[in-house]
Amino acid sequence: MKPVTLTPGFGDNRPTATLYYGQDVRDSLRLLPDASVHTVCTSPPYYGLRDYGAGDTEIGQEATPEDFVETLVEVFREIKRVLRPDGTLWVNLGDSYSRGSRGTVVSQGGLCASDKDGDKYNFSSSSAKMGGHEVIKPKDMVGIPWRVAFALQADGWYLRQDIIWNKPSCMPESVTDRCTKSHEYIFLFAHPDSGGRYYFDAEAIRSPSRNKRSVWSVNPKPYKGSHFATWPPELVVPMVLAGTSEKGCCSGCGAPFKRVAERVVSTSKSCPKTQAAHEARGSVGKPKGTVGKSGGSRVDGYSVHKGWTPGCSCSEEGDFQEGDFESIATPTGTRTADDPTMKTGRRGMNRPRGSSEGVSLTTRYEQRKYAAQIKASPHRKEMEKEAGGSTTFSHYTRTDKSGSRPIPPDLLGRWLGNGWVQKVEPPKRVPFPTMPCTVLDPFSGSATTGMVALREGRNYVGIDLNPDYLDLAQARIEGRKAPQPVEPDSGHDIFDLFKG
Ligand SMILES: C[S@@+](CC[C@H](N)C(=O)[O-])C[C@H]1O[C@@H](n2cnc3c(N)ncnc32)[C@H](O)[C@@H]1O
Repeated sequence: MKPVTLTPGFGDNRPTATLYYGQDVRDSLRLLPDASVHTVCTSPPYYGLRDYGAGDTEIGQEATPEDFVETLVEVFREIKRVLRPDGTLWVNLGDSYSRGSRGTVVSQGGLCASDKDGDKYNFSSSSAKMGGHEVIKPKDMVGIPWRVAFALQADGWYLRQDIIWNKPSCMPESVTDRCTKSHEYIFLFAHPDSGGRYYFDAEAIRSPSRNKRSVWSVNPKPYKGSHFATWPPELVVPMVLAGTSEKGCCSGCGAPFKRVAERVVSTSKSCPKTQAAHEARGSVGKPKGTVGKSGGSRVDGYSVHKGWTPGCSCSEEGDFQEGDFESIATPTGTRTADDPTMKTGRRGMNRPRGSSEGVSLTTRYEQRKYAAQIKASPHRKEMEKEAGGSTTFSHYTRTDKSGSRPIPPDLLGRWLGNGWVQKVEPPKRVPFPTMPCTVLDPFSGSATTGMVALREGRNYVGIDLNPDYLDLAQARIEGRKAPQPVEPDSGHDIFDLFKG
């Protein structure tokens, strides 16, 4: 089936949506190029939920939870190929209860189930049988989200976080032997080949004074045009913003641009309580709540956006290494520290920088080139003395990223003045075209992810088995009124949803 391509919006670099509807996800994924996706945001069908009327290959109808988990692992194995190695995967999963007649399951709190209309939708009893499961007894939670999470972890994915989707206005339940369920899980994974290092724009989703927390409170928002409850768009926004670069990516290799942000950690001025507590303890050690070298407790600060830097050196000419264009801070106080907001004392970074101790930005490239010069210089010993000894000096001679620090401007000025080092010019760059990053939802449904992606200026690839959802998805992406969808086949039992 030919994909449908949409390019709503105006201006340069317009994002595009490509919709593969009417084909199994495993077949559609094969049509996508390797490493062409930056982030995947998806809500797979829930286990044991009745079918969407899309045929035999519909996922969610497997005989046992183990089969269901295996099917998803297989799908995500193909996603591993199309996702960039620095890419992320966000998976929202709902749970089910085993009930009554030895093994039938009831999907609960599920996106595609009853969030909006309680028992209005039908569930397929035949496909939701677990057939006398060895472990899962009637009334047991099936634990699908964690089963899937651990299985993906075992398949190589980095399980980075469980995010709780808290639903303040959840569906009421008439249960008397447990609490009403008001949350679901969203798991954040990093690509199996990422080595645990991946693109994540934490700044894009921070609140003004602190990092985004792992409990997201978003009310389910039924979408009128759909027969199933769709993702509320607000739930998808942080996934898209953190998983892809607002600036876009290199049109040559797809590497996302990285944000350059300067972090300003709360100091005694902005956090009088912290400082007061510190002083009450006799001002010994580092104030609790500030960032210390040893990790320690932290107070969130705020950050200042400084621009964007390419994540690659595709269009650069010269002796560049990855990360050379990153700006790094040079503390201008008498001593230096990696954290520009802190000043190094005898026992490490143990007090906030004073107001007269500013920062100046330099590139990793300049730092590296100066370090190489110092290493080879006949004046090395003199420079070491001026730097205050070998411990500090060794940081200026490092050409790798770990442990290297830029030379403070006052010292550098002196060394340039007496000819011990030669001036290094900041790296010159040839401007090269960017393109929007790409978001994939392999279980696209009404294309909530697509709608958010396009709105945020990202490309979108949406896949769904059911061709009947195509018009709806198209309309939502283009911001049109959606056509009424075809009602699902209703020849199935209706489960009592809330007697889990
Ligand atoms: C939970 S819904 C997704 C809802 C979506 N997040 C939204 O906001 O509209 C799951 C979707 O998976 C689709 N699906 C089920 N089995 C599939 C398969 N084998 N291949 C592709 N899509 C499938 C269903 O048609 C359904 O639209």
